[in-house]
Amino acid sequence: MNTFAESDRAALAACWHPVAFADDVRETPVSAELLDEALVVYRAAGTVHVARDLCIHRGAALSKGWVEGDELVCAYHGFRFAADGRCTRIPAMPEVPISPKLCLRKYPAVEHAGLIWTCLGGEAAHPLPDWPEPTDSGYRFLHLPPQVWDASAARAIENFLDVAHFSWIHAGTFGNREIPEVMKYDVEPTPSGFRMDYPYLAANPAHSPLPEEKYIQRQMGYLLTLPFSARLAIAYEGGRRYCIFDACAPISAKRVKIFFSVAMNFDHEKPADEILGWERKVLAEDKPIVESQRPEELPLDLSEEFHLRFDRASTAYRQGLVRIGLKP
Ligand code: FES
Ligand SMILES: [Fe+2]
Repeated sequence: MNTFAESDRAALAACWHPVAFADDVRETPVSAELLDEALVVYRAAGTVHVARDLCIHRGAALSKGWVEGDELVCAYHGFRFAADGRCTRIPAMPEVPISPKLCLRKYPAVEHAGLIWTCLGGEAAHPLPDWPEPTDSGYRFLHLPPQVWDASAARAIENFLDVAHFSWIHAGTFGNREIPEVMKYDVEPTPSGFRMDYPYLAANPAHSPLPEEKYIQRQMGYLLTLPFSARLAIAYEGGRRYCIFDACAPISAKRVKIFFSVAMNFDHEKPADEILGWERKVLAEDKPIVESQRPEELPLDLSEEFHLRFDRASTAYRQGLVRIGLKP
């Protein structure tokens, strides 16, 4: 079922989207979903592949199959598919020439920043996010299991870029209820989105991973890569840098898979559960609110919701989505 307007789907098909964390993709094929399409993601002879999760013989899901050498084997009748998608063997009739039409629909697959990305339009018109930290040896990279939210990818990313909600939704974690005012900030356009800096005196409860003081000053730098990827780099005193990566895959117009990861240049010995447990709590604060937003799809016509000065990031985000071809 197509849940996107045709022109929106075409615009989004020209973008890179994440489909899996790289370390979750080994030889066993895994299923993924993107833009209303079921995908199979697998690694064969060291190379990552993305294809439509459908064997054109009888429509079985290829994610139920397995990899042998550099070929994907369908579980139903054992047809084998080469790296370029062509069927190379039909075990029930091994002597008969194989039609070139018996071919998987393959998509580009790129491993970048700890994730596997694909582009359903075949050729991406926009770049991948510029995120060096996940593969920088000076940083420790950790990620949560992907989360599915009943929300649009655009609502999820706009929430990630929203600096006015900390004191409210996040009062149970880092939100400082005593300082709800939002300072004036600027949004600086980049070729693929924008960046913005925002200082925030965060609450720092005893259950936080950095429990030394009651409040902690965060110098926060956001980097948006259209359409649905954003990094928040938080600088703490003493050269400590903590980056949060929010890469959202639009499963459908109203459902998003969130690939949430962090990279930090300090506390390499601290248990991963302590760090990720904190992030899980923060996300659990956002999720019910974002899932409650109506309409689910982000209104790109700016006259449809109220925009105040502190919503500058949201208005710039909506304008950016229009710039890459989504219809208001
Ligand atoms: S459905 Fe895949 S081999 Fe028959
Ligand atoms: Fe939030």
